[in-house]
Amino acid sequence: METMILKHQVGGQAVDTEAANIHASPGDPTDLEVRFGEGDASLIEAAIAAARGAACQWQAAGIERRSDALQQISRTLREQSQSLAMLIARETGKTLRDALAEVVRASRIFDFFAAEALRNVGEKFESVRVGASVEVAHQALGVIGIITPWNFPVAIPAWKIAPALAFGNAVVWKPSELASATAAAMTGIIQSAGLPAGTVNLVLGGSACGETLCNSAGLDALTFTGSEPAGRRIRQATSQSGIRLQQEMGGVNGLIVLADAHLETAAACAVNGAYFAAGQRCTATSRIIVADEVADALISRISQAARSLVVGDPRDAATDLGPLASKRQQAMISRSAQGLVDGGYCDLLQGGAQDGPGAYFRPMLFDHVRPDAELAQKEIFGPVAGLFRVKDYDEALAVLNNTPFGLAAGICTTSLAKAEAFKLGARAGMLMVNLPTAGVDYHAPFGGVGSSSYGLREQGRAARAFYTQSKTIYQQATP
Ligand code: UN1
Repeated sequence: METMILKHQVGGQAVDTEAANIHASPGDPTDLEVRFGEGDASLIEAAIAAARGAACQWQAAGIERRSDALQQISRTLREQSQSLAMLIARETGKTLRDALAEVVRASRIFDFFAAEALRNVGEKFESVRVGASVEVAHQALGVIGIITPWNFPVAIPAWKIAPALAFGNAVVWKPSELASATAAAMTGIIQSAGLPAGTVNLVLGGSACGETLCNSAGLDALTFTGSEPAGRRIRQATSQSGIRLQQEMGGVNGLIVLADAHLETAAACAVNGAYFAAGQRCTATSRIIVADEVADALISRISQAARSLVVGDPRDAATDLGPLASKRQQAMISRSAQGLVDGGYCDLLQGGAQDGPGAYFRPMLFDHVRPDAELAQKEIFGPVAGLFRVKDYDEALAVLNNTPFGLAAGICTTSLAKAEAFKLGARAGMLMVNLPTAGVDYHAPFGGVGSSSYGLREQGRAARAFYTQSKTIYQQATP
């Protein structure tokens, strides 16, 4: 077994604290053990102070130097993609195939924002006062706190850190305790691009560390991706300071399958959305809302495809589904699923937790889910999906929208009219027509409505609004 002992990174220096946290590979606990300390208030304060100092230098470095550094990070991510992907697979249980694709996606995100750094275009108006001008500039905010989950351990950090850096900010990053080694490796890659010391600081730890970061003075903004309950706690913690806040918190995303759908496409969308990445995507499909007359035909296709998915060692190239991120996640998801069955909310068709030391979970499928089942109110975050049978489009839309969440929603139909109606009627931030609810492009805005998201959109050109302060500047030359 390999043991990795991690250090925090503050002001360009590695900082040791007692390595009280232990995380083992979720697929094979005898493979890798990651040990690291819990970042406390004084460490976080030092990280924020280091970031504050670096932010001025980084902002003053100018757009070309910042753009070059982001391109350098992008190249290094690609050069190290094999070893980084293997670390992701061992630490988080993501399949090597998905992990490799994710590292490449992260590399592309850095490239995208390397170009955005050069395109921080403002506006200039003639003033109503003759001879004066009005300018709108988008300037760096300062110090950004970043809290990220384990499920996309490099892509989500990339789409927060890259725009933060592109627009001249410094960062204090607290990754999930289930992806600390990956975060440490990524921090090394970022630092190797020669940023001023303290531009990117890494503070390791669990939820206590995250809470301390949220309560710290000195941040200009905080961006968070994670669970809805954690997001709610963060909103409470930051309500006093009133710092700029951006949150992405998942969903109970629904895929509508109408009677006129191309069923092969619909089944492929359902299987991809519900089960790929072991269902651990905030955009995953947990509700398949299907017209009664095609429900049986759809179920047999989904069921067969789900059974043929290979659940196994994430390092193995043949594996479709690795383990869940931890035994704790496995137990939580089993409990939620069992609750649905025991409460008579649905019929269990197949799937469930596998016994053994790994956190494996076979794709789970329910039929006849009752509209009042918790599946519509609470995110399960595993390979678990249920069929809600409906009579027509109107009922399907009502079921789809009967949730406090609203991240992604999909429809499978060959009717242009129904697709158009869905685009207007679906209550979600990202809509998919004949595509899985999960799997988004990095150059388009990302975010939801309702309990799924809070604050400004992430990704693509929309990212600038969060990472910059817009200033309206009036100017007149003196005679
Ligand atoms: C995707 O569907 O490609 O945490 C990305 C998550 C999301 C990212 C989903 N923020 O799963």
